[in-house]
Amino acid sequence: MTGRYQSIYNQSMADPVEFWRDAAEAIEWDRFPTTILDESDKPFYRWYRGGRLNICHNALDRHVAAGRGAQVALIHDSPVSDSKRFITYAELLDQVARLAGALRDQGVTQGDRVIIYMPMIPEAVAAMLACARIGAVHSVVFGGFAPHELATRINDATPKVIMSASCGIEGSKILPYKPMLDAAIDQAHHKPAHCIIFQRPQAHAALTPGRDLDWGQAMEAARPADCVMVEATDPLYILYTSGTTGQPKGVVRDTGGYAVALKWTMEHFYGLKPGEVFWTASDVGWVVGHSYIVYGPLLQGCTTLVYEGKPVGTPDAAAFWRVIEEHKVVTLFTAPTAFRAIKREDPNAELIANHDISTLRALFLAGERSDPDTLNWAETHLKVPVIDHWWQTETGWPIAGNPLGLDLLKVKYGSTAVPLPGWDIRVLAADGTPVKRGDIGAIVARLPLPPGTLPTLWNARERFFKSYLADFPGYYQTSDAGFIDDDGYIFVMARTDDIINVAGHRLSTGAMEEVLSGHSDVAECAVIGVADALKGQLPLGFIVLKRGVDRPHAEILAEIVKKVRDEIGPVAAFKQALVVERLPKTRSGKILRGTMQKIADSEAWKMPATIDDPATLDEIGTALKQAGYAKAG
Ligand code: COA
Ligand code: AMP
Repeated sequence: MTGRYQSIYNQSMADPVEFWRDAAEAIEWDRFPTTILDESDKPFYRWYRGGRLNICHNALDRHVAAGRGAQVALIHDSPVSDSKRFITYAELLDQVARLAGALRDQGVTQGDRVIIYMPMIPEAVAAMLACARIGAVHSVVFGGFAPHELATRINDATPKVIMSASCGIEGSKILPYKPMLDAAIDQAHHKPAHCIIFQRPQAHAALTPGRDLDWGQAMEAARPADCVMVEATDPLYILYTSGTTGQPKGVVRDTGGYAVALKWTMEHFYGLKPGEVFWTASDVGWVVGHSYIVYGPLLQGCTTLVYEGKPVGTPDAAAFWRVIEEHKVVTLFTAPTAFRAIKREDPNAELIANHDISTLRALFLAGERSDPDTLNWAETHLKVPVIDHWWQTETGWPIAGNPLGLDLLKVKYGSTAVPLPGWDIRVLAADGTPVKRGDIGAIVARLPLPPGTLPTLWNARERFFKSYLADFPGYYQTSDAGFIDDDGYIFVMARTDDIINVAGHRLSTGAMEEVLSGHSDVAECAVIGVADALKGQLPLGFIVLKRGVDRPHAEILAEIVKKVRDEIGPVAAFKQALVVERLPKTRSGKILRGTMQKIADSEAWKMPATIDDPATLDEIGTALKQAGYAKAG
């Protein structure tokens, strides 16, 4: 491979320190880092030691000072509340500075944690930036999580303040947030000193005297706060993501490395210039939202679009085309599932013809494997490059993709293209030896990871080491399996752990099993991810009832579905479980979830040599067939 990408990639591999020193020049520092890469505590590396900066300054103040104050920084397009708001850089700076002042008035200082549990409204973005402005560490919790999940995060992050809103709006449903917040605080053993609640006209929240403050009043009473300069290695946020148990992992993001990496990718990967409109149709509760709804576009001086709606149904499958036309969107980034939803409603893309989407330069897809059919559909109808790129909450920015901002390389369906600069990607066998080109193995990244990636897990350095660094010494384990072809293209095939991907949302089947086994009638259970034409995967439960339970199965199953919704949240999309006599296991008692998933999806499978009783798989096959799965064979 030749060209700009290859030469820049080679530079990043040959001299990472020089490469990331140069990239750091694009950020305004209060003090430029003294050590670009601190290797004194291997395998725990730190970038930009000695540097001091404020990321909110780089996202807002810097642009206002440079004359960008009158440019729209944020467009809020909300078909569900029938409103549109256009907020300039100067206005956003003013709001953020006052909100930061309100936080300071509640005693929040540098290093304190603030949980943000909010729908897709500009105030959620302002809340994140306000925390960053005073050096507080934000932890955004996605609105689709239930109180129990929020309580787990409250206990782990021990926030001084929680910022929330009276309600979210999902399609035509108004979802009051405040009762969920109150329930979570009741359940949590840590209690925040205050909650700041944004009242939306669609639902009014009752405030708890002494604890809750009205957002508007708190801002009115506050004086604007200046930026607090923090160390580059200080945490900017904690973002919880599914691990293999019900205890989520608190991914820590540092400030300096993240700012540098995002600024670099906005220009060199996504190919955006200041002033252009960047739309990430995701949610601020996910890493994609943190990086490319909030920080990336604003660091680059772009206009970011905050969309509160769905790809279909708000009001129809032309929603995306309407938004692109109306706001002159240059780049759209979403999950393949959104396009599958549109394609299902409008297979021939007839609705596109009613809209002028000529400003669109590229579509970026991530969050789950892109199926070739959807990719092809998008390419054909949008007539722009469609770029599948691969990343994780842990990495904060893409590991691999087609680097549009440098060179548009050949697209290979099924591949997330080439590693980005800074990423030395290898495929290893279980014993740590490299596999042959083209063979499947564990995808790992050689240490040190580039800037902006997780330096640790919140309060869990040992878990960080065990989860990511222990199995393959010298490498970060992605927990994705796949292969690299002869052209160096990466193919991400499947997770090697119990994580499934539902509508681009990362979920742990282990966490669901913990909920199922908490039901009083359940003796044993398993949850697997089965293929779904819209959401990519859906969870499917199997339960073995305790001896003597003779209640109707339908009743128990309904309780189980409700239990997952109540304890994890609607985002789990757990809608179906089957009662079986027993689960297929190895002789050592390990449940054969992988084989069950293959049978359910009618994929080829082999009888595991270690199986205890082969007849159990026939029984599972029969139960799956009765439920409409395992159609072939
Ligand atoms: N707050 C409260 N509830 C939420 C929520 C939120 N922020 N987000 C989703 N939910 C609820 C949904 O309303 C749904 O509830 P239901 O069971 O009562 O219908 C449930 O959680 C499951 O949500 P989801 O899996 O997203 O299904 P959906 O039918 O609402 O939407 C898609 C399906 C494909 C349209 C939607 O997932 C989508 O647009 N995804 C692409 C973008 C994206 O989210 N990317 C994430 C990573 S890049
Ligand atoms: P999350 O942490 O929610 O971003 O989920 C990360 C996981 O999603 C990865 O480990 C992959 O399993 C999957 N994933 C993300 N992007 C892609 C992609 N482009 N292709 C295949 N899988 C992906």
